[in-house]
Amino acid sequence: MINDKLPKIWYGGDYNPEQWEADTWAEDDRMFKLAGIDVATINVFSWALNQPSEDVYHFEWLDETIERLHANGVGVCLATSTGAHPAWMAKKYPEVLRVDYNGRKRKFGGRHNSCPSSPVYRHYSRLIAGELARRYKDHPALLIWHVSNEYGGYCYCDLCEAQFRVWLQKRYGTLDKLNKAWNTRFWGHTFYDWDEIVAPNALSEEWNGNRTNFQGISLDYRRFQSDALLECYRIEYEEIKKYTPDVPVTTNLMGFYPELNYFEWAKYMDVVSWDNYPALDTPPSFTAMTHDLMRGLKHGQPFMLMEQTPSQQNWQAYNALKRPGVMRLWSYQAVARGADTVMFFQLRRSIGACEKYHGAVIEHVGHEHTRVFRECAELGRELQQLGDKLLDSRVAAKVAIVYDWENRWATELTSGPTVALKYVDEAHKYYDALYKLGIPADMIGVETDLSGYDIVIAPVLYMVKTGYAAKIEAFVEAGGTFVTTFFSGIVNENDLVTLGGYPGELRKVLGIWAEEIDALFPGTVNQVVMKGERGALNGTYECGLLCDLIHSEGAEVLAEYGDDFYKGMPALTVNRFGNGQAWYVATSPDERFMKDFLSNLCAEKGIEPLVKAPAGVEATLRVKGEKSYLFLLNHNPEASAVDLGGRSGTDLLSGQAAQGNVAVPGRGVMIIETV
Ligand code: GLA
Ligand code: ZN
Repeated sequence: MINDKLPKIWYGGDYNPEQWEADTWAEDDRMFKLAGIDVATINVFSWALNQPSEDVYHFEWLDETIERLHANGVGVCLATSTGAHPAWMAKKYPEVLRVDYNGRKRKFGGRHNSCPSSPVYRHYSRLIAGELARRYKDHPALLIWHVSNEYGGYCYCDLCEAQFRVWLQKRYGTLDKLNKAWNTRFWGHTFYDWDEIVAPNALSEEWNGNRTNFQGISLDYRRFQSDALLECYRIEYEEIKKYTPDVPVTTNLMGFYPELNYFEWAKYMDVVSWDNYPALDTPPSFTAMTHDLMRGLKHGQPFMLMEQTPSQQNWQAYNALKRPGVMRLWSYQAVARGADTVMFFQLRRSIGACEKYHGAVIEHVGHEHTRVFRECAELGRELQQLGDKLLDSRVAAKVAIVYDWENRWATELTSGPTVALKYVDEAHKYYDALYKLGIPADMIGVETDLSGYDIVIAPVLYMVKTGYAAKIEAFVEAGGTFVTTFFSGIVNENDLVTLGGYPGELRKVLGIWAEEIDALFPGTVNQVVMKGERGALNGTYECGLLCDLIHSEGAEVLAEYGDDFYKGMPALTVNRFGNGQAWYVATSPDERFMKDFLSNLCAEKGIEPLVKAPAGVEATLRVKGEKSYLFLLNHNPEASAVDLGGRSGTDLLSGQAAQGNVAVPGRGVMIIETV
């Protein structure tokens, strides 16, 4: 359990006392108490302060900070400070500086700017992690380690290029295998020496950040960079574990952040934590999907909400304030989906540099008489009142949506058939429909066990990795319902087409063959015309983006295209396979289709919404032993009536009994405990 040492939903966030004079610290302590804050993430960007030169370390300020926090009942999420290297290091060892996508050698500046292959960076980050772990290993305030910060970005320097070649040698063994995997006879790219291989960026194979001449090398470079940064994390992890084997270690992730394969990363994290920064107009279902993805990284284990802003960001184009009640609502949305902490960036708003307009619990005015502080303190009180009740409870779902980072890279690096295909958006279409139906879904990876699910949906499963088709077949054979879509089963892990007809290895389970793929221009549509009724599915729907021109090879054709030269060809099929069914949605249909399609699938499997709720009300269930906690989150500004059906219990936030029809206040929350 995350919260062993402090058994309640942790409440706090990033705290940078080193940016302030000592006279503010007593005020911080006083206000943290007022706000019910019990965890501070410290030392995130203090490497330069901790290590002013190569052989000198200074931790006095940190000793004092940890002591002070501890004396005030605040636990510590201790960062290792390696998210930004000191200026002296960049000057003395320019190798720690990255080379960017356009081939420019960076100078000192910014953060998250260290080359992941640099032996100097690795050496000094290991050293400081060890110094910290040795120094604070027995400190009672230490709750969890926070390695670096928001790992990300790629480097294209000579060190990375050399390490890339080593990585490739490990993966392929011989150049012959590599040449085949990348299909290098295309455009005369045959490599005869490993040293001929260069990093793929704007100077070589790529343009616009995600277009490439050679998907093979570009995919591998992403894998390599994700691995290289992960190695940096692991170096610190292992150093820390030498001294504090029992203290959990995490690093803060960023949801659907495209550049790192988080399913791979999560294997080396004790706890997943992430930073949630939706804009005011981000659909709540998108945030919900992201929480579910973060929960899915460690197969349902609770996670930490490491950062969110109490009020506004500074780095979006238009940094709207969170409206009254929204910070609380979004905090509980995280908890409802598996978070066992609610933490902010940051506790005190900074005085200078680019985050001075970023929201904080303590605003520039410095006192507690602000709307934001009042809302934070109110939430702090509630979280204290909830105690340990919700901790370590689990969210259960019968439906899973497959999400795979490498598949995302491959679909977006591909040249053709359309620039409009966005993998995350297609996944969200399915998630959003389920969300609106009130049906919980898990977000899972391709390594996740499928046996607990009734329905597995893999939107745009373009890349089918070794063994995955067999896994799907076994799932369907055993009675599962599998859904995939257009542009699936096309390539293997190297982006080489599986010959013999699309959807390649999925052809057998789906009982279809796709002959051609049509890309529709923006604003152009076709129709999905049902041949009869199937549950809620009936009549004609619109579709667009891509249309696969498919033939049935045994699958039942439920709908056809309504237009163009492929009018009358199948647009929706279902294949009976063993005891289960495999569906193919040959195009990207409208929202109405998604709703009818998924409500039909869920009804066929006997999966029902948790409650009857109007649009804008989100319901989730966390379960712990005999107890379950029904969360009702009203994203509407006005009160909404929810029919609890047979469920009843006590709302933990108001203390009121809840049964039958309940009214959830505008932007309000209920957590109904049932036994
Ligand atoms: C990220 C970082 C923080 C801070 C916030 C601002 O999440 O981890 O250090 O910069 O963004 O939103
Ligand atoms: Zn590099």
